[in-house]
Amino acid sequence: MALREIKKDIFWVGVVDWNVRTFHGHTYNTNRGTTYNAYLILDEKIALVDTVAGQFADELIEKIKQIIPPKKIDYIIVNHVETDHSGALPRLLKLCPSAKVFGSKKCKEGLSKHYYLPWSEAPGSQSDAVKDNGFRDFQIVKTGDKLKLGRRTLTFIEAAMLHWPDSMFTYCAEERLLLPNDAFGQHYATCERFDDEVDQGILMDEAAKYYGNILWPLSSLVLKKIEEIVKMGISIEMIAPSHGIIWRKDPGKIINAYLSWAKNETKPKIVVVYETMWGATEKMARKIVEGITDKGISVKLIDIATADRTEVIKEMLDAKGYIIGSSTHNNDMLTAIAGFLAFLKGLKPQKRIAAVFGSYGWAGGAAKSIESVLKEAGIEIAQPSLAVQYVPTDEELRKCLEFGREFASKLL
Ligand code: FEO
Repeated sequence: MALREIKKDIFWVGVVDWNVRTFHGHTYNTNRGTTYNAYLILDEKIALVDTVAGQFADELIEKIKQIIPPKKIDYIIVNHVETDHSGALPRLLKLCPSAKVFGSKKCKEGLSKHYYLPWSEAPGSQSDAVKDNGFRDFQIVKTGDKLKLGRRTLTFIEAAMLHWPDSMFTYCAEERLLLPNDAFGQHYATCERFDDEVDQGILMDEAAKYYGNILWPLSSLVLKKIEEIVKMGISIEMIAPSHGIIWRKDPGKIINAYLSWAKNETKPKIVVVYETMWGATEKMARKIVEGITDKGISVKLIDIATADRTEVIKEMLDAKGYIIGSSTHNNDMLTAIAGFLAFLKGLKPQKRIAAVFGSYGWAGGAAKSIESVLKEAGIEIAQPSLAVQYVPTDEELRKCLEFGREFASKLL
């Protein structure tokens, strides 16, 4: 993928990872791939902001070589330690051994642990592993610290826990350009680089998926960080994150979306997620959806055993109501729904209501277990659960219909 000048003398030198399908272990399905964005700023001093995943180091280096010899890089800004952004750093540093690395205090600690670097050791006293990794000079920076490049000056803004302790944003006032690393990103592999070049529906879909699956539990910090940036009086014309598309036409669109998601604002929408053993719980789910539809409320029905969990979380991000169902197995819920609820709990959704249903054989248990997890997640149980033995009768299906109508009424 060709390099791209995003502003005069500022180049995207990242890579597009078209084929990656899982991220963060297997916690995120990247069905549209991703990109690792790095930015080269040419001024009196030359700075590179972030690198790329280690397996793409050659591609990053080739792109830089198309613009300047890598040895001319004076500064490398490491906004984030995670290896999708720092993995190529050791290789690159061998080509620009005099480059000075900038990052937060936690970044220095994190890089040391990832790349075996006791920074304090004098040259010559290092282990082979350390000698080999190319690191030389690191400067810790904190919010408000500046780095003058020439015509431009970079300002650093710590962003601890968005989403790692080391995370940091870099801002260039002269260009009104924010480089926030993971924040405002999307896992979206494209040959286009800018928001005005891609389908808006897909773009916001991927941005929502990214927020819901990664940043949702950090929403209070997201709000504080946006407030802090507003108070700093920072003017933003372009947001260039380290994954996906660059926001140049409408950066306010993603900032407003983040504000809404971080405030846990929702729509009158219900997501019904279930797992079924022999189909009885599915019959109940379909009737519940009918009841919800009767009330004119938007609803999605999802069998978690076959669904893409990353997509399900995206659906839940803007939904006010969750209805969760499972057959009972060994006095408990089934395993796919259990895994899903454990993941959902970690995302700490707020201001949601829920209800629970399911079929059982000779002893129940699933409904109670599900309610317990939902309560632990801080989700309000809005009505008593509905359990049916074996296969629901016509009368019991009518109860399911009523169950859906009653829950939907709470959103009207
Ligand atoms: Fe894209 Fe937290 O790394």
